[in-house]
Amino acid sequence: ANDPDLSGDNVAVAFEDGIAWVKLNRPEKRNAMSVSLAEDMNVVLDKLEIDDRCGVLVLTGEGSAFSAGMDLKDFFRATDGVSDVERMRAYRSTRAWQWRTLMHYSKPTIAMVNGWCFGGAFTPLICCDLAISSDDAVYGLSEINWGIIPGGVVSKAISTLMSDRQALYYVMTGEQFGGQEAVKLGLVNESVPADKLRERTVELCKVLLEKNPTTMRQARMAYKYIREMTWEESAEYLTAKGDQTVFVDKEKGREQGLKQFLDDKTYRPGLGAYKR
Ligand code: ACO
Repeated sequence: ANDPDLSGDNVAVAFEDGIAWVKLNRPEKRNAMSVSLAEDMNVVLDKLEIDDRCGVLVLTGEGSAFSAGMDLKDFFRATDGVSDVERMRAYRSTRAWQWRTLMHYSKPTIAMVNGWCFGGAFTPLICCDLAISSDDAVYGLSEINWGIIPGGVVSKAISTLMSDRQALYYVMTGEQFGGQEAVKLGLVNESVPADKLRERTVELCKVLLEKNPTTMRQARMAYKYIREMTWEESAEYLTAKGDQTVFVDKEKGREQGLKQFLDDKTYRPGLGAYKR
């Protein structure tokens, strides 16, 4: 059931065994992303980050779409007639949730692509840690079809996962592709038949939920930050981040891991996680 405090016209949130299901909730508009949807997503993401019911966040869409991209009426046309400052504020709300917050979110994130995924929807898709697609999802960089460039930060986002040849092909043609093709392009981890989508996503969430959450957060953050560092900087930063992880980990995972393997001989780290 949707949580009444966190759910509204644009976004619906439901909790289930450590998973926070965050649904873009404008099915009648194919979950097109308006200015008010951005404002609601910012509130929801802020709240879930410190909500113990959210161990993993799954971002998906209600109805037939993951998201049909930015709302041509309630994002583009609506900001055409306003002042530069107001327009900048609308863009800032969207940037905040679609990439700034998601990219460095404290909880693991999975995009579950259930249907249409166009244009601006690629940004939150790519900024989630992992992604699982339905085979029948339909993706497209449709910007060229209506006379704009893949803006916001879509061009930058796709360049982090797709090769230049692949990215430019879809930027230039606006051609659609399905879930299996999205796997080949590196946009999603895997694609499964529609009737297995939720089940597979829950299975993956369970694996993540078994791990030490502090190590999980530190490992994800470290990976995301080193992408823009040199080898020297990465080595120095990762050593410091590793030390910091021991400092902030109340569960003392490293100590537990060493003890249960070397002294108690109760598990093998190569084959699974230590007992928490
Ligand atoms: N912006 C605003 N409204 C939208 C959007 C959108 N991106 N996508 C769908 N809608 C609205 C339609 O206008 C329609 O509204 P209405 O019922 O008030 O007329 C309603 O959602 C249903 O849309 P249909 O087109 O009737 O739905 P259908 O299931 O036949 O098609 C599809 C779905 C393919 C997603 C189609 O709606 C579409 O092409 N949408 C636009 C996709 C797109 O190119 N998005 C922009 C990407 S570029 C960017 O994000 C920067």
